[in-house]
Amino acid sequence: MLAGRGRRALSPVLEIRDVRVVFDVPGGTIRAVDGVSVSLQKGETLAVVGESGCGKTTLAKAILGLEPIADGEILVQGKPVTANLAGLAERVGIVWQDPYASLDPRWRIGRSIAEPLVINKRFSEDRVDEVIREVGLDPSMKSRFPHQLSGGQRQRVAVARALALNPPLVLCDEPTAALDLSIRAQILNLLKTLQKELDCAYFYISHDLTTVRFIADRVAVMYLGKFVEVGPTADVFENPKHPYTRALIASAPTLETLGKLPAVLPGEIPDPRHKPKGCPFKTRCTNRLEICDTVFPDASIVGEHTVYCHNPVASTNAVPSKT
Ligand SMILES: Nc1ncnc2c1ncn2[C@@H]1O[C@H](COP(=O)(O)OP(=O)(O)OP(=O)(O)O)[C@@H](O)[C@H]1O
Ligand SMILES: [Mg+2]
Repeated sequence: MLAGRGRRALSPVLEIRDVRVVFDVPGGTIRAVDGVSVSLQKGETLAVVGESGCGKTTLAKAILGLEPIADGEILVQGKPVTANLAGLAERVGIVWQDPYASLDPRWRIGRSIAEPLVINKRFSEDRVDEVIREVGLDPSMKSRFPHQLSGGQRQRVAVARALALNPPLVLCDEPTAALDLSIRAQILNLLKTLQKELDCAYFYISHDLTTVRFIADRVAVMYLGKFVEVGPTADVFENPKHPYTRALIASAPTLETLGKLPAVLPGEIPDPRHKPKGCPFKTRCTNRLEICDTVFPDASIVGEHTVYCHNPVASTNAVPSKT
């Protein structure tokens, strides 16, 4: 699916420009999002991948206006998110990992789906029924409570709620992580089908590289608050340039390696309160040079593929074989 390609001339649905989000915590400051820039076109899916704690959810919350940004700018359909929080729901939907986070357990699901329509004065029972059908459920389910649905059905309801207002941008934060494999495939197919019908863009956060490869047009790889590599999905998976991307791909279980321990990245993720100077990945990098100790690398751009690395991986040995 390459819906986003060939549309680069259009103005983006989402523009993130050098955004920083900072938390003051005991013992220091966490620069959870540390100068991130990317844009997303109509109908395109950008996946953000990276280990736990790298800043993915914080970035999503900043896009929703739920986390204040210390620096930079986030524009949805050309408008800064901070300037118009009230109208943001019409432009951005959200699907969280745990549908209970988006659905009030005390509300019947019809009410949960209707809520964004009511708030935005666009409620009609017909629209609620229509969006329930769009996610593959029957409108008779409106009277049920979330606990009376299966996990997959609950996530379908969460998708219906996110799409009720037909937003051009939907944030998905690990939307299939809590589901078993067959239900995961159903939700992914549903998201793909709905994207074709509605032409919405997905900002898709996931640890699961298999899922990302299936759903994303482009991938952004995040490490300690920074994007270290961004590019078209096939390029990034087949020809990863950053040593971190290469290690992530090599660590992901595949059918051949299922049941074996995955290759692990060397070393530990540094304490986010005390990020290393220079390249944040240097403490675990197999390609480290002296300059990595002091200087964060500039972007090297080849076509649509961008990497921030002083000593990128050579194409010929892009992904090491697994043991
Ligand atoms: N409200 C907060 N106050 C202080 N620190 C926070 C807060 N929210 C997040 N952090 C810190 O910011 C960093 C990024 O967290 P974030 O939740 O964005 O990571 P993530 O990439 O979504 O991880 P995961 O894959 O586990 O969901 C972490 O070090 C986290 O502890
Ligand atoms: Mg998260």
